This record gives sequence, C-alpha cells and structure tokens, in this order.
Amino acid sequence: MFAKFEQEPIAAASLGQVHQARSASGERLAVKILYPNVVTIINVDLRVLGWALRVYRNFVPLQQIERVHEHLADMLARETDLVNEARCIARMAKNFEGDSDVLFPVVFPELSSSTVMTMTFMDGVKITNKDALAGLALDPYDVATKLIKVFYKQLFVDRFFHADPHPGNFFVQRGADGQVRIVVLDLGSATELRDNLADGMFDILSGLMTRKDDLVVRGIDTMGFMAAGGDRALLERTVRRYFEKLLSIHITDFGKIDPAVAQQLADPHMKREDLRELMKSVAYPEGWFYVERAAVIMFGLSSTLAPRLNGIHVGFPYVTQFIMERNTRRLAEQTARKAAEAAKQAAAEPAPKVAEEPEALLN
Ligand SMILES: Nc1ncnc2c1ncn2[C@@H]1O[C@H](COP(=O)(O)OP(=O)(O)O)[C@@H](O)[C@H]1O
Ligand SMILES: [Mg+2]
Repeated sequence: MFAKFEQEPIAAASLGQVHQARSASGERLAVKILYPNVVTIINVDLRVLGWALRVYRNFVPLQQIERVHEHLADMLARETDLVNEARCIARMAKNFEGDSDVLFPVVFPELSSSTVMTMTFMDGVKITNKDALAGLALDPYDVATKLIKVFYKQLFVDRFFHADPHPGNFFVQRGADGQVRIVVLDLGSATELRDNLADGMFDILSGLMTRKDDLVVRGIDTMGFMAAGGDRALLERTVRRYFEKLLSIHITDFGKIDPAVAQQLADPHMKREDLRELMKSVAYPEGWFYVERAAVIMFGLSSTLAPRLNGIHVGFPYVTQFIMERNTRRLAEQTARKAAEAAKQAAAEPAPKVAEEPEALLN
C-alpha cells in the first residue's frame, strides 16, 4: 500500500496518531490512525458524564443542560469516524476553492477507512510559533487577520465551520507574493451552522457596529435565546438597558472587555426575583454549543497571535460584503419566483374578469 511508512508517529492525535508515509509514486503522505477501542472508551466516559449531569440537574434547574451532553456525544461520534472527516475536508476545500491561500489536505479514499485516513502531507509552521513566523518574515497580525477572515467566511457565508480551531490544527506557509497562507487540518468536528444562528449573529453584530439596539434584540430573538414561555419583555428590557450602558461606556472593542468595564456593566440593582425570572427566560439555542466553543477558541488564538487586533472589526466588514451580495441574490430569486407563480396562476385561471364581463353585460 505504502512505499514507505514511518513507524514513529509525527504527532500524537487526541484520539490516535499521525504517521508520515510515502506513496508508490513517491508522494509524501500523512496517515491519521485512530486508537483501537477509542469508540468504546469514549462511550463509557460519556455515560459517566451523562449520569453526573442528571445528578447536577436535581440541584440546579438550568434549562437544557443535557443538551450540552448530547452535543458532546454527537461531536465525539463525528470525530471518531474518519470517513466523516474526509467528507468534511472535501466540502470545506470546495468552499475555499476561490482562495488559493487557504489549503486543505487531499484525502485518498482508496487508502482510507473509518479508522485510517491517508492524505497529502501538508508543509507549514505551527501557527503559534512566532519565531518560525518571523523566520518566514510573516507578521503575526497578518496571520491572525487571515485566520479571522477564514473563520467569518465559514460562519456567515458558507455556514459550515471548523468547530475545533485549536492552534495545532493550523499551519502557516508563506506565499509567492509574501502573503500568509493558512493550512487547515482536523476537520472531524466541522459543523453546519443553522440559518437562524447565522442570521441572528449577523443582526447582533450589525446592531453593535451601527449602534442599533433593536437589531441586537431582534438578533437575540432570531438566534433562539428567548425561551418559550419566558418573560420576553423582561429579556428585551434587560438587553436594551445593557446596550445603553455599553454605548455610554464607549466600548469600541467588543472582542475584549476590560474586567473593570465588565464590573460597570454588571447590574447591582437587579432584584433577585428578576434575575431568576431572567434566567428562566433565556434558552440555550440548538447548535449554539459548537459556535460558542469555536468562537472562544478562535478569539483566544487570535489574541495570542495579535493581542491588539480587534477580531470583530477585522471580520465584520469583510463578511458584510458577502452577506449583501447574498441578500441581493435572494431578493432577486424571491421576486423571480413570485413573478413565476403569478404567471402560473394567471395561466391556470383563464382570464376570469374578461370572461365574466360579457355575461354581466347580458344580465
Ligand atoms: N495532512 C497532514 N500533513 C502534515 N501533518 C499533519 C497532517 N494531518 C495531521 N498532521 C499533524 O498531526 C497532528 C494531529 O492531527 P489532527 O488531525 O489534528 O488530529 P486530532 O484530531 O487528534 O487533533 C496535527 O496537529 C499535525 O501536526
Ligand atoms: Mg488536531
């Protein structure tokens, strides 16, 4: 199968290991292999976690806490199936077809299964290795900027994103024009973003950027943060009050908020019952787990690379253009569909008015 296979792994993967190899034609390969029994071990861990959560739930009636458990179980199930990972790689590589500075390994299906994945070996330096980046004369700020743009495109444009953007999963290369090129690895947990989450997040960000609190409130609602049967008015009031404070404090950098400012934002006058009521009014939207987790890891990575970079300011204008184009296209499609429907209806009912009129005249 392989002309050469290095017994010593190049990297320990979390659920297995990665080996370097060579194909018969001499191409460098990377082979990811899952540990045997990995699925059994995980299932036992998850059972224990599920049990712990159920016990915890008796004391803290936090809504939908089990959903987190379900999400974890689902994520691990997807990550332990390398056929799924290969599919995710192909899908995301296609989404980035137009950007030659975002690279993905190519998987060889004939040398792969659910526990083994053979792919092209990807060169590059680890994204957090600042010395290596300096060696390539690449600015960590440019690296972070490119990374954030890639993430925003995944979230808002493709709505299919890397749910585990750990530093170990990105390499950096220097392009022919001295530009940053990002290698994306480890897509086993790649996840589709629900439309309501993408649309709602977009509204919230727009609201924050253009200082419109009604957009923020609408976004929170669209995302599904308002619990059914909860006190919507209270939630809205709280969001608006919070927003007014945000604006008066003049936070320009929503990516990182100073603890002292956070203190100012906290509401010491909020009554205990109100707080309890508020907690009951907040839901945990389906699918939010993955996005929240990915965003926390991504912004953490970005601030490691470039402490003064504002991730939101970098990414937002960039995707706004895509979203505008998409909305225009959608609107055009909608108009065309409506026109087609109207035409069809008109054809199905042969000119009622005109046919009736002569009769009316006869009467
Ligand atoms: N195609 C590849 N080319 C070169 N190195 C790779 C490749 N795929 C994985 N690796 C190396 O193996 C490590 C672990 O692989 P990864 O897919 O991230 O597994 P895990 O899911 O366990 O994190 C990566 O951080 C990287 O160093
Ligand atoms: Mg990894």
